[in-house]
Amino acid sequence: MTIPKVAELPALPRLRENVVHRASDLIGATPLLELARTGAGTRLLLKLEQFNPTGSAKVRMAREMVLQAERSGDLRPGGHIVEPTSGNTGTGLALLALERGYTFTAVVDGHAAKDKLRAMKAMGAQLVYVDSAESGGPSTVERRRVAGEIATRTGAFRPDQHNNPHNNAGYRELAGELLADLSTDVDYLVGAVGTGGSLCGTAEQLRRFGSRVYAIGVEPVGSIIFGGAAAPYWQTGSGSPAGFPVGANVRYEHIDEGCRVGDTDAFATARVVARRTGLLVGGTAGAAIHLALRRLVHLPAGSTVVVLVCDAGEKYLDTVYDEQWLIDRGVYDQAAHQRMIRLLRAYDESVRLAALDTATTGA
Ligand SMILES: Cc1ncc(COP(=O)(O)O)c(C=O)c1O
Repeated sequence: MTIPKVAELPALPRLRENVVHRASDLIGATPLLELARTGAGTRLLLKLEQFNPTGSAKVRMAREMVLQAERSGDLRPGGHIVEPTSGNTGTGLALLALERGYTFTAVVDGHAAKDKLRAMKAMGAQLVYVDSAESGGPSTVERRRVAGEIATRTGAFRPDQHNNPHNNAGYRELAGELLADLSTDVDYLVGAVGTGGSLCGTAEQLRRFGSRVYAIGVEPVGSIIFGGAAAPYWQTGSGSPAGFPVGANVRYEHIDEGCRVGDTDAFATARVVARRTGLLVGGTAGAAIHLALRRLVHLPAGSTVVVLVCDAGEKYLDTVYDEQWLIDRGVYDQAAHQRMIRLLRAYDESVRLAALDTATTGA
């Protein structure tokens, strides 16, 4: 076979080439994967936000906050950004900073996933570590204090993701993508809540489009966003520990229900999803999927449930996907894995039974 030279290839009629010039141009248009379905036609879809550059939803809002700061003059050419982060906001800000010529300082603690910290460094961010909390949980309060102190001392721009309304606004496109990709409404939207930006921003925009979505927020057991008792937890990125004021971006008016899922169930679910789909999801996504899977059978027939998957499990190979790490922290339970496996099998079986029923009755 002779291979035609480029010049001999027929010209394809294209209005424009499909080539981007910056990684941030790849933000959005993330895929939906059906994880489960019931015999009553209710389906659980995963919005896979790990397909964004930096591997997380948070880059959407990092871009929105940086662009808005440029518009308002809070960020000037060659400027400096400082933000406390558990990692995903940091990688998002690191990307925007390198593309747009800013320096970025991330204030972090030892609770953050190591690979997120390495990724920030690889993109040129400066890391400032604060001591780990005595509880072993995240040092959210101390991270915030140190970031504020650096901003005051240096005049750096502090996005303040917990209170900056452009965090939530960064998810408007996500809502549009959901409605564009589905032939139905999003009946239920389930997401892990940290700053609240992804769930509240998406739900608010869906409703602006006329959706009748019911939004469910999920926090770790031990987090205080929805009023429960404080305790240490190992999910990173979601939740608010004791002593940390819940920020303005948790817009309770956009959340119909707040739920708590413990680390054991969250991590077991993430691991079972990985075995079922070959896609590794993060621990907070595991919590949201856990809640959604348990609810699915109780929802009206034909409902569409979307879970926001904030990030992928590859960032947690040393933690959520490491059995010994789980055992050492008392958050490994084989029975929790088995419960999720049985639930998924039961849904599969209910679909088979429904198909059989339709075939015999002709309904
Ligand atoms: C892994 C992970 N899950 C969930 C969240 C919570 O998202 P939001 O801050 O939009 O509520 C975050 C936020 O940083 C996160 O990193």
